Amino acid sequence: MKKWLVEELICPECKDEQTLLTLDSRKENDEEILEGRLTCPGCQGVYDIHDGIAVVVPAKTLPITRSTAGYGSTSMLSSYLWSHYSEFFNGPDATDAYKKWARAFRPRDGWALDIGCSVGRLTLELTKTHARAVGVDTSLSFIRAARHLAAQKRLEFDLILEGKITRKRSSSLDPAFGFEHAEFIVADAMALPFRSNRFATAASVNILEKVPDPLRHLEEANRIMDKTRAQFLLSDPFSWDEAVSSPDLWLGGRNSGPFKGYGLDNICRLLQEDTGVLAPGFRIQEQGEVLWKIRKTRNLWEHITSQFVMGQRLDQ
Ligand SMILES: C[S@@+](CC[C@H](N)C(=O)[O-])C[C@H]1O[C@@H](n2cnc3c(N)ncnc32)[C@H](O)[C@@H]1O
Repeated sequence: MKKWLVEELICPECKDEQTLLTLDSRKENDEEILEGRLTCPGCQGVYDIHDGIAVVVPAKTLPITRSTAGYGSTSMLSSYLWSHYSEFFNGPDATDAYKKWARAFRPRDGWALDIGCSVGRLTLELTKTHARAVGVDTSLSFIRAARHLAAQKRLEFDLILEGKITRKRSSSLDPAFGFEHAEFIVADAMALPFRSNRFATAASVNILEKVPDPLRHLEEANRIMDKTRAQFLLSDPFSWDEAVSSPDLWLGGRNSGPFKGYGLDNICRLLQEDTGVLAPGFRIQEQGEVLWKIRKTRNLWEHITSQFVMGQRLDQ
């Protein structure tokens, strides 16, 4: 983990106290902590840094980070590396979705947080418009891949064609990415280990429908954002799934209750309210749809419409 991130990290179990973690470094180089542990002086919780990867999640999230199913599987890694980076190895039918999301951000002196960053493309795009960009995800496999490609400034992976048949893919990445200004850690969107008001920008792209408590995720995104000039990009297919979250926690796709109607409409309302989960309010700058693709195998593609809204807080 890059040394510049150490003093920003708080305990994800004691967030209300904003307790900064204490580092015990066991192996490091000039830029990074390679092995060590972060300890909470409040609850004595311990968070490991191993192979340069910091895992700063509540104890109940730990099993998900280590899972080799779902977002931890090798097939998902191939799918997301293709989805994020196929433009660079000239994959036919590459998706330009990440470029489109990235275009929504205005340059800021501060830091950006990409929540649910997967293998890191949007985080790297955010280094072009921000002093530093941090990507967080609960998948250790994705974070390992994101850190590796950022360190190599190059992509190399086995693209699944069918079953166990794979083909090597490699390419250099955009030289305009600020690789030294990006870092990726394992963290939970519902318990972010960062000081409040730290980020000028936050992105929540295709994660809202993937967390068990979507409102909690928004509360956390809001907590870490600057209360005066922040910009917030939220994009999602709003394909709510009972296997992920209980319908009474959905922020849309319901016929009654406070979040009846469509998800995007409800998010726009929350963004503009001056009280509530995303207060103080944002002004909506842009709204639309991004056509996004995930490639599972050479014959199986998911074509997804992700609806987005970009909000910005004006100077108080
Ligand atoms: C549909 S993918 C979207 C990934 C990326 N934002 C993109 O658009 O390509 C959802 C991502 O959210 C991550 N995720 C799911 N639950 C999470 C949580 N509680 N905290 C952080 N990341 C989470 C998954 O590991 C996965 O990388």
